[in-house]
Amino acid sequence: MAPPRPRLLLGQRQTPAVMARLQKDFTLFAIPETQMTPTELVTAAREFAPEAIMVSSPLPIRAADVAQLPPSVRVIATVSVGTDHLDIPAILGRGIALSNTPDVLTDCNADLALMLILAASRRAAEYRDLMKQGWGRGLAMDEMLGVRVTGKTLGIIGMGRIGRAVAQRARGFGMKILYSNRRRLGAEDEHGAQYFATPEEMLPHCDILSLHLPASAASDGMINARMLALLPRGAIFVNAARGALVDEQALIAALRDGQIAAAGLDVFRNEPTPDRRLLDLPNVFATPHVGSATMETRTDMGMLAVDNIEAALANRPLPTPVTA
Ligand code: 8YV
Repeated sequence: MAPPRPRLLLGQRQTPAVMARLQKDFTLFAIPETQMTPTELVTAAREFAPEAIMVSSPLPIRAADVAQLPPSVRVIATVSVGTDHLDIPAILGRGIALSNTPDVLTDCNADLALMLILAASRRAAEYRDLMKQGWGRGLAMDEMLGVRVTGKTLGIIGMGRIGRAVAQRARGFGMKILYSNRRRLGAEDEHGAQYFATPEEMLPHCDILSLHLPASAASDGMINARMLALLPRGAIFVNAARGALVDEQALIAALRDGQIAAAGLDVFRNEPTPDRRLLDLPNVFATPHVGSATMETRTDMGMLAVDNIEAALANRPLPTPVTA
């Protein structure tokens, strides 16, 4: 007789290929229409006593939630590279294994950052609105002009996997790359990029600034009025990392007065209901936190999460563990 399939609590529906694997290899609790709330997750966990829980970044598990999880839970796998929605010490402190999904989303996240750079610089949101209205009248030679991307200087804060992938793509646009990071990269990873020990030293030299660092207590609100004022007037600002990195009030002010010419934003402080004043600005090109949102990458992320769950339940080392 086949051994009983482990019980897995799924916080969010996954792609068809991931769902097929989960349905074959696990006993699932009700499959959420889209995603559970933290309260629903804890309630379901107490009722279902799962061995494994799968979540993603819109579904936080804080210390109070961890405290309520039943003792059956042996592993939590987040389908995200970011872990700021999880109380890591509380989870690990209960002896629950934890994994995330690095690497597999690097390319798609970097692709999206380039899309934001291009869309913000070349006024994609305004052009799209105009075309949706039927266009109607020829533009003057000096009307609705954007900012040339080719050959510009791109500053990257956070030169991890995704930051480096953005730099690689930007070099294809002839951009000069500056970066600021906790540590300087080796020459083999720098590819000629110029290192700055602090963002403050780098910002005055950036035509375009793109964030690629995780959210943490230390980085909360780091892009504030003082930092935005350090950029050259008319710079482009891009954020495909985390909304918590930005003081949005300061960004709105800088976008209104032209200090920042345009912004490309995939992430916001309040998701999924960002500050309307930000969304309503004509010089903001906004997307709904979709850095990893391709069928291929979401499937790779889900599969990696399941690999981690299977490893944890078999007492094998996790492929991509989150450690303290
Ligand atoms: C989201 C992300 O988790 O991996 C991350 O940290 O921010 C994204 O990939 C994913 O889009 C689900 O919301």
